[in-house]
Amino acid sequence: MKILLVALGTTARAHCIAEAIASSPSEPGLVAFMQAKNPGVMKLAKAVKIGKVTDLEALKKFAEEQSPGIAVISPDDAVAAGCADALLEAGVPSVGPLKTLARLESSKAFTRELVSKYGIPGNPEYLVFTRSNATEIPAYLRELGDGYVVKPDSLTGGKGVKVSAEHLESHEEAIAYCHEVLKTHPSVVIEEKLAGEEFSYQFLTDGKTVCPTPIAQDHKRAFDGDQGPNTGGMGSYSYPDHSLPFLEKADLEKAMEITEKVAAALKKETGFDYKGVMYGGFMKTREGVKLIEYNARFGDPEVMNVLPIIDSDFAETCAALANGRLSSAKPRFKQLATVCKYAVPEGYPTNPAAGRQIEVPKNAPGRYYFGSVEALGEGNTVFRMGKSRAVACVGIAPTIGEAEKIAEKTVSMIKGPVFHRKDIATPALLQKRVDHMARILGRSK
Ligand code: AMP
Ligand code: GLY
Repeated sequence: MKILLVALGTTARAHCIAEAIASSPSEPGLVAFMQAKNPGVMKLAKAVKIGKVTDLEALKKFAEEQSPGIAVISPDDAVAAGCADALLEAGVPSVGPLKTLARLESSKAFTRELVSKYGIPGNPEYLVFTRSNATEIPAYLRELGDGYVVKPDSLTGGKGVKVSAEHLESHEEAIAYCHEVLKTHPSVVIEEKLAGEEFSYQFLTDGKTVCPTPIAQDHKRAFDGDQGPNTGGMGSYSYPDHSLPFLEKADLEKAMEITEKVAAALKKETGFDYKGVMYGGFMKTREGVKLIEYNARFGDPEVMNVLPIIDSDFAETCAALANGRLSSAKPRFKQLATVCKYAVPEGYPTNPAAGRQIEVPKNAPGRYYFGSVEALGEGNTVFRMGKSRAVACVGIAPTIGEAEKIAEKTVSMIKGPVFHRKDIATPALLQKRVDHMARILGRSK
């Protein structure tokens, strides 16, 4: 079978998915439709077409030429643009939901309202405002008090959500931001600010069967100690038992229950099965597990905690999922810890050293997944960086301690104007997360 990967090409996620497909025991052929030549995907794919992922006609044409059995859609904007719908017209089913179902990620209001309408647990307090009821925003902010979050109702590349005390200092600032959002978006969601520890739980589903993958935790802030500006994600870790030290079995079950109910609600609401990734951003709070958001694709970096340790045939799982029979090919994962640390250009995210060169060695103990870099020359060791996260460096081992050391060594071997977070998955950081959770739950002095 041939598998078509639809990707931006500037993220390590694409390389990681391509590797999982290409190394499947069933030996599928990989072809890719990408916006940029990802050096990792270029090595693995048998045919590559460069084009905008939102150019649905070009995508369809490539699919017709290649006639793959299925497609895997990697980025959020491709999912939201309706790549799955276009590919289905060309006779190719996808791992990636249809446009109407992609609202799960692309519309925060849609998801909050779906969860409420079907009586599914997990929502914080929230209200959706449009231009017609914007005058009621101040009263709702007064009701929420000091803890509120403002979310534009569409994809904003992770940059639109503003949280009180972090990005918004007062109700006046929040109101002004809501009005700014409403100039360009149909609506804005205001919700209660939750306190707790976040975790990324990615599920594969064909709309009927929901399969969990190992839970990971991302690190959004640029610098050690969770300091500095928010980024696309500086790295992530997962444990050999596929849970995290601050979670209990009941928390995993709750997140799974929410996801199964949301998948069923999506079917009732739209009439279609959701086929793809339901990546839940959850938070464990004093009141239990809450839903922050769903993404309709794998996480970046969190995909790097999951696919490198798959212990079953990923291509077979993808084919089963896209054809609505996932129950016959559920994925399995090795009981290993994974740690991902991103090497990013100096100055990232505000003023990245784009255009500068880096050298990535061949003899590192961990794995490299190429992101926003362009290969220079034949040797594939020298790369020119773009503006975004350059290379994801992954350590895999029986314990988190060993995985962290491998990831750290691997990322440190890259030469050039890059930096990374040294603290990700270190014992001190892991203890900080556990202590924070204990404080939230009121279990510490
Ligand atoms: P989102 O794009 O919805 O994932 O939001 C981006 C980030 O904002 C999340 O990863 C959280 O850290 C934070 N966030 C979003 N919603 C809430 C909430 N209701 N309470 C606290 N933090 C939130
Ligand atoms: N890790 C954040 C994201 O993929 O959206």
